[in-house]
Amino acid sequence: MRVTVVTGSASGIGAAVRRRLEAAGGRVIGVDLHDADVVADLASAEGRARALAALGDERVDGLVACAGIGPHAEPVAAIVSLNYFGAWGILDGLAPALASGTRPAAVAVASNSAVLPGVDDAIVAACLDGDEDEARRRAIAGGGHSAYAGAKLALLRRIRREAPAWAARGIRLNAVAPGPVMTPLLRGGLEHPVYGPAIRGFPVPAGRFGTPDEIAATIAFLLGAEAAFCCGAVLFVDGGTDALLRPDAF
Ligand code: NAI
Repeated sequence: MRVTVVTGSASGIGAAVRRRLEAAGGRVIGVDLHDADVVADLASAEGRARALAALGDERVDGLVACAGIGPHAEPVAAIVSLNYFGAWGILDGLAPALASGTRPAAVAVASNSAVLPGVDDAIVAACLDGDEDEARRRAIAGGGHSAYAGAKLALLRRIRREAPAWAARGIRLNAVAPGPVMTPLLRGGLEHPVYGPAIRGFPVPAGRFGTPDEIAATIAFLLGAEAAFCCGAVLFVDGGTDALLRPDAF
């Protein structure tokens, strides 16, 4: 039975991933602030260390770094601490366990916000330098969108930088970049006085928000045997927004 660690498993996309993997006969070890096998705050270094210690003896074949908070979340500094340092901290920390797993694969959940205008290059640089204090300072200075987009772009760059070395160790490392998906996170954004109108005005060619199950299906594909040659891929699952806004990005 494949064992997959899923962060953010209590809600939204992470919960949909959990349901899907369990329905296929797998075992999921959920990591979240609540309603999880491992309860830990991945926005703090102590919480990440506690989660990794709790997972220490587990066999790990798959990993989904999904836990995240939206641009409207408070405090703003937590956005970079969770969305970049929480995600990469767990991926990096579980890499040795994954290397001993069967056909190991990991997926990071980023966002198509990473390639929207308004990214603060200094946040991206601080994240990639591992300087959490500086990333938090820049997040507070720049506000929620800049913190969110910066953390997600840094996460994608980290995945792209690491994927070749991970592939050489036998671990496939990939990412998804969802557009707006109807979850409690998106609902919180829609209720926000500033982010709500911005989200409603966001162009989605498919004409609707995505569902958690649609993102979970893509994640399950990237984790599974049919994606055996996918390494370092970033799959936009966004109803066409990235293609609309950046048609010539390739
Ligand atoms: P959600 O709010 O439904 O679920 C997020 C989960 O993360 C929750 O169970 C929450 O308890 C957990 N979490 C929050 N803070 C945590 C912490 N400090 N430590 C551990 N766990 C924590 O959100 P959703 O929409 O399912 O988001 C999942 C991922 O998808 C996030 O990384 C988000 O940035 C990303 N995403 C979501 C989009 C959307 O429109 N819903 C769009 C693009 C990306």
